[in-house]
Amino acid sequence: MASLSIDLREQRRSTDDLVRALALTTCFGGRTVLDGIDLAIRAGEVFVIMGPSGCGKTTLLRNLCGLLPPDLGAVSVRGHDLYSAPPQLLHHLRLNTGLSFQGGALLGSLTVLENVALPLRENTSLPEAVILDTARMKLDMVGLLHAAELLPSSLSGGMKKRAAIARAIALDPDIVYFDEPSAGLDPITAAEVDNVIVKLNKVFGITMVVVTHDLPSAYAIADRIVVLLDGRVAALGPRDEVWHHSDPRLRDFIERRLPAEDGSGMDVIRHIEV
Ligand SMILES: Nc1ncnc2c1ncn2[C@@H]1O[C@H](COP(=O)(O)OP(=O)(O)OP(=O)(O)O)[C@@H](O)[C@H]1O
Ligand SMILES: [Mg+2]
Repeated sequence: MASLSIDLREQRRSTDDLVRALALTTCFGGRTVLDGIDLAIRAGEVFVIMGPSGCGKTTLLRNLCGLLPPDLGAVSVRGHDLYSAPPQLLHHLRLNTGLSFQGGALLGSLTVLENVALPLRENTSLPEAVILDTARMKLDMVGLLHAAELLPSSLSGGMKKRAAIARAIALDPDIVYFDEPSAGLDPITAAEVDNVIVKLNKVFGITMVVVTHDLPSAYAIADRIVVLLDGRVAALGPRDEVWHHSDPRLRDFIERRLPAEDGSGMDVIRHIEV
């Protein structure tokens, strides 16, 4: 494992791209959901995946983080093909990957501290005191140290999300994948979760990949954005470039419009009032 770690550190130095998708295509029941996606996630950035409901955001996230092999194309992590990596390397890559998925439930019978300690207990042989200290440190990083001894049922929605984030970073991953981190939260609580994501990125250098259809949240946190439409990359680039993209389909999406029959777009709020 030591030589493997050195190998991975060398790779980290030699490339800025942490994860790459190459001609990635994923189908369900004969229907192509993702159709030839090419993208690269750079080390140290907040990369946001956006697009209308059902466009394949969660599917792409699962492809990228190693949970779902694509039907065609490849995913590489620091130059290693994720889905053909030998078991030891795959294990190492997985330990360097944090997941905070929608509905990624905390275990209800364990305290918040024990939930965060769980990945450390399962994947390390650290002494008990170090495990608990590390778990407390992670809770502190998300502003939840005061809730360490509470059960998940006593937490608010925003606190649960932050506890799940603390668990996702328990093993000091290089990269964390989030699926709709602010779903179901009021705007102020959603902003708190955004702040945690940005803090972990800016202060601790963790690469963040965030799926969201919450536009204010995307704008607040993103360094770069990919927008998926009809299973393809409709735009990919720095946040402001994507935000001001001239493609009418992008304008419709970003300005929260529904496409009108003449293609000019119709404001959603006006549409609902009619
Ligand atoms: N395991 C699966 N089996 C069959 N179809 C699936 C599966 N997972 C996703 N799909 C289909 O693939 C399409 C994309 O789903 P996905 O969950 O990736 O969309 P999404 O962009 O994340 O949507 P949302 O914004 O609503 O979360 C949907 O039509 C969905 O029904
Ligand atoms: Mg989804």
